[in-house]
Amino acid sequence: MAQIGMVGLAVMGSNLARNIESKGYSVAVYDIDKDAEQRFMAAYGSGAFEAVQSLGELAQKLETPRMIVMMVRAGEPVDRLIEEILPYLAEGDILIDGGNSDFHDTRRRQKMLNEKKIRYIGMGVSGGEQGALHGPSLMPGGDRDAWEGVKHILTAIAAKAPDGTPCCAYLGPDGAGHLTKTVHNGIEYGEMQLICEAYQMMCDGMGMKQEDMAETFRTWNTGMLGGYLISITVDILKYRENGRYLLPQILDVAGQKGTGKWTVIEAASSGVPATITAEALFARFLSNKKEERKRAAQLFPAPELAAMPGAALIEEIRSALLASKIILYAQGCMILAEGAGTYGWEFDLRTALRLWRGGCIIRSGMLDGLIEAFGERKLRNPMLAPEFTKRLNEAVPSLRKIVAEGAARGIPLPAMSSALSFFDGYRSGKLSANLLQAQRDYFGAHGYALEDAPDTPRHTDWTGKGGKITSGTYNA
Ligand code: 6PG
Repeated sequence: MAQIGMVGLAVMGSNLARNIESKGYSVAVYDIDKDAEQRFMAAYGSGAFEAVQSLGELAQKLETPRMIVMMVRAGEPVDRLIEEILPYLAEGDILIDGGNSDFHDTRRRQKMLNEKKIRYIGMGVSGGEQGALHGPSLMPGGDRDAWEGVKHILTAIAAKAPDGTPCCAYLGPDGAGHLTKTVHNGIEYGEMQLICEAYQMMCDGMGMKQEDMAETFRTWNTGMLGGYLISITVDILKYRENGRYLLPQILDVAGQKGTGKWTVIEAASSGVPATITAEALFARFLSNKKEERKRAAQLFPAPELAAMPGAALIEEIRSALLASKIILYAQGCMILAEGAGTYGWEFDLRTALRLWRGGCIIRSGMLDGLIEAFGERKLRNPMLAPEFTKRLNEAVPSLRKIVAEGAARGIPLPAMSSALSFFDGYRSGKLSANLLQAQRDYFGAHGYALEDAPDTPRHTDWTGKGGKITSGTYNA
């Protein structure tokens, strides 16, 4: 009898199964693609693995209550698998979805499965194939007692943070784990785009050589700015194939698998201005318009300016990146805090931040500071914590300079520009929304309030030709 089942033996499923087995657990493995299953057994079958031919056999071969991890493509394949496996499950069995599922799907599935007395965990898994094998960051949410049943395995296979704690902890009911992973990916999108913009400033704005850019990023890989994404950027910049750098040869058309999009959808649904992730997502979409871009490049030449000079500017780009990264994480925290409120979860933001300190794609030197910021007081936004306020006041002047330099040279910096605009909006006691409210009231009688009576709606007949009736006031 095996202690746990793994369904789906693509890269992530195979490596998670191997990780679990390496910690002394026996694993029954299943894939609908029998070639994949055979390949897995040929390579690793000497371990405590048992391949099964059907979901029914999987159920027979597992100790009860059964624990089954599903590592299949997000979306409809998860629903199909649940439907197919359900007849073989018994009360109290635990199903874990370790894919990048939309957390709304996870909420729906948990509700449906709980009605059938099956326990469910929606778990974000981060760290790519190496992380899955050697220690991923695991973000489980769902049934608390299911967590109690599986935590010995999950904490054993998870990455360890620098202080030795496992990067795996229960986050909250139903979709809390998958929302945390979604926000993780939103931050991942934002940070990747910000690094790309720093690269483009060095490359196109300053005409830096690739080895010098690699060395620059290497020196940046420390403190709050340092982290996994900066370190892989150094490796990528250095990488050569047949003696030639590979990076400049790679087609500039970005792919995406949906989680960044869900972050933006969730932010929009809950009224959170997650501007950097949104711009990072849209930058990927724009990159896809390669043919149009090539045509537009002929029609709209870039402003002709000399290359930006000097080492001092590199330091400005570093600071601009740091300021943007702080704002990016602040926006991510806002989505999580809002989500927890909306869905009624008891959710400690610090737990999520702790899980990101090791194993995951966004592990970085910023997380300890964020945990501390939220620990000190009930802050809604880490930008208001003294350490981050100080850092922003120091670094934002550079962000202003770099955004201005980029604009003057026609270098697109959507993520940095939106970080700056967000910052300026956030620190504005008075925005131009007074005019906006007046416009809404002018054409649609939507009403507005006065500064000194914010809770009293009023309406003005701006033209002398309107009625006295205001349209209903509500915020969608
Ligand atoms: C991780 C990653 C991973 C994600 C890929 C691809 O935490 O290991 O977030 O889960 O699937 O990075 O994402 P995109 O294809 O959307 O860029």
